[in-house]
Amino acid sequence: MTIDYHHRTALYRNAAVAGLAGLLLCTSNAWAASSSNQDAAAPHLAVTSSDFDKTPDGQQVEKYHLTNRNGMSVDIITFGARVQSIDLPDKNGNVADIALGADKVKPYIDNEGTYFGAIIGRYGNRIAGGQFKLDGKTYDLPKNNGPNTLHGGPKSWDQKVWAAHQLDTGNAVGVELTHFSPDGQNGFPGNMAVTVRYTLDNDNDLRIHYSAVSDQDTVINLTNHTYFNLAGAGNGNILNQVAMINADKFTPVDKTLIPTGKLQPVAGTPMDFTTPTPIGKRIKDDNTQLKRAEPKQGGYDFNWVLNSKGDLAKLAARVSDPKSGRMVEMYTTEPGVQFYTSNFLDGTFPGTDGNKYAHWGGFTLEAQHYPDSPNQPSFPTTELKAGQKYSQTTIYKFLPE
Ligand code: GLA
Repeated sequence: MTIDYHHRTALYRNAAVAGLAGLLLCTSNAWAASSSNQDAAAPHLAVTSSDFDKTPDGQQVEKYHLTNRNGMSVDIITFGARVQSIDLPDKNGNVADIALGADKVKPYIDNEGTYFGAIIGRYGNRIAGGQFKLDGKTYDLPKNNGPNTLHGGPKSWDQKVWAAHQLDTGNAVGVELTHFSPDGQNGFPGNMAVTVRYTLDNDNDLRIHYSAVSDQDTVINLTNHTYFNLAGAGNGNILNQVAMINADKFTPVDKTLIPTGKLQPVAGTPMDFTTPTPIGKRIKDDNTQLKRAEPKQGGYDFNWVLNSKGDLAKLAARVSDPKSGRMVEMYTTEPGVQFYTSNFLDGTFPGTDGNKYAHWGGFTLEAQHYPDSPNQPSFPTTELKAGQKYSQTTIYKFLPE
């Protein structure tokens, strides 16, 4: 089905009214309630917006700057609803930008496959053979990762300019971004309206809340693709940073990084991060999985099956940098996390402030459903029924506070 602009706008409005508006109403009540103690509780919380850049076809890209009282700040740009930078003090108060990114839109377009900081939709991670079946119908998707479809296919949500507005509640500041994805976009069924809300508070919690609704049965798996380097983006690699992933199992992959369908215990393998371990300690081990992720030197690019099982109160993962004292913890409603050690970075990306990003120069913690779930009946489902509300929350908590 193809639809014209007016129909699309109306549909977005209807979808928003039917699904998203309900969601937003619930939360905005809570926000209104919390705004009364604004000055006492949160003297330095602020959000401002400014022009960032323009896309080659002339669309304006805005930047939202979120700050808190601990000297932490987060920049979100409307191109791909991306985290563009995260300024975080170290244990001595020295601030560094710990998120890999760019100063302009062009590097994000020229290096689409890096997905720096972006919101990934409609389906984060891989779909085998660029194909899946739903309600008896086969859907063909464009392949952009060898034989597979990765991160929603080419020119997906990470390459779109999202609509945005500021949020300020007293206890948190943020930005809400919306996007409409028409039926058939990169082969996926259903017109879909999506809202992503980033908020920052004085506990150094960067909270990402995703919601979406579709007018047809479809599949969905949203995530954020920020690469962190706790020593500072561009400041060498992350091999000495120490990771803990609260997972007893991971989903091993075939040669094209599609899960075999098994859940394999991490015990006795380089995937065991149940106790905090330097990322580089076993990355070069002679291990088939590590070599599938990065054939030359080894790397991590796998989905871990989280013991937190979607409980937002339970720690899912933590990475710390012993040198700077900086740390990030992740909490999520999702059943898995893709821990990726930027095996494809090679120092050529023109990064923020002239920085170059080395091989293994960052890590991602992509909270998500397992890869290829639409083709893997034993995995938790990623199906979204027509009119049903999709919702996902992930918190990245940064220390020191
Ligand atoms: C995900 C994938 C990786 C890679 C990055 C983007 O983490 O699992 O294989 O494609 O995205 O470069």
